[in-house]
Amino acid sequence: MSSDVPDAGRSAATSSPAGPGGAVPDFTPEIAEATRPAYERLRRVIPAVEWPVHAPLIHAIDRLKRERRAIVLAHNYQAPEIFHGVADLVGDSLALARQACDTDAEVIVLAGVHFMAETAKLMNPDKTVLIPDPEAGCSLAASIAPADVRRLRERHPGVPVVAYVNTSVAVKAEVDICCTSGNALEVVESLGAPEVIMLPDAYLARHVASRTAVRIIAWEGQCEVHVRFTAADIAEFREAYDELVVLAHPECTPEVLAGADLVGSTAAMIDFIESRRPPRVLLLTECAMSDNVTAAVPEVEIVRPCHLCPHMGRITLANILAALRGLAPRVEIDPALAAPARRAVERMLAVRPAVRRPAVP
Ligand code: 13P
Ligand code: SF4
Repeated sequence: MSSDVPDAGRSAATSSPAGPGGAVPDFTPEIAEATRPAYERLRRVIPAVEWPVHAPLIHAIDRLKRERRAIVLAHNYQAPEIFHGVADLVGDSLALARQACDTDAEVIVLAGVHFMAETAKLMNPDKTVLIPDPEAGCSLAASIAPADVRRLRERHPGVPVVAYVNTSVAVKAEVDICCTSGNALEVVESLGAPEVIMLPDAYLARHVASRTAVRIIAWEGQCEVHVRFTAADIAEFREAYDELVVLAHPECTPEVLAGADLVGSTAAMIDFIESRRPPRVLLLTECAMSDNVTAAVPEVEIVRPCHLCPHMGRITLANILAALRGLAPRVEIDPALAAPARRAVERMLAVRPAVRRPAVP
């Protein structure tokens, strides 16, 4: 074993406590060896002293995934030990929705928030879809109910309704089409309507409105994480760091987006960093993603005011292991809602991807 990998022989006191998944094996030399590739991916962002806690969980999850014919789909905001440790497929909401359609695994563990797991179940009604913590919600999804959509339709008769995927199945069942931060403009323009209702994220709606001739009627939902970034953050970081490229998620406020060099989905931001490799990036999105990018592209320095999504953070290696052991908690969808909600997601997936590239410095 390389001396760079934490030595199991000296870690006898670091056996993992029994968590929600039950007993977890000790950190043995065999586990250290089996998890070496994961450690190599994670060593820049996880201190060596923590590895004896993560490695036995990663090893146990890997074994159970094979036994259960399961895969882990992880959102870009998942903690690095999940994202680089146990995920089979990773991505933004759009990629997760597409990948959920393509898998032939029997079990999908969705390492992300509840609406993402619901989307995976919508697209895979016959598979077992697990969400390790069903309380992993989203402030945007919580900001709107089906009755609100019906009221909007009464107020704006005949105007099509676009729902961000960050909504419940019950809301998706009321709308015409879904969108994500990666395709919102294309989805809105695909409708060929002079005006469109966009819900629930007011800032994503305003961002789309600034780039299209379609009149946008917005719902006033907000992401509790992205709303915390400010234009003053950008000014301070630009003052402190040379050659800084500012990337922001469209859930940030219009003032923040106005000061950014690139506005894009989590996947668009990662794609920019991987393909352009700027020396230094201010990443205005959920903080765990910065660690995931640092692990993959260490030569790019990521600076950020660190805001974590408390809902994303509910997913842990321990509850992923527990979900695989017990094949629970399962995501189940009311059959009366499934067909109309699935139609809204499928309509979105049929919209042609953008050919335009975002403006970058
Ligand atoms: P993305 O689809 O860009 O990954 O965003 C999802 C999300 O929840 C952002 O807060
Ligand atoms: Fe929802 Fe914001 Fe968390 Fe994304 S970061 S899941 S939009 S609360």
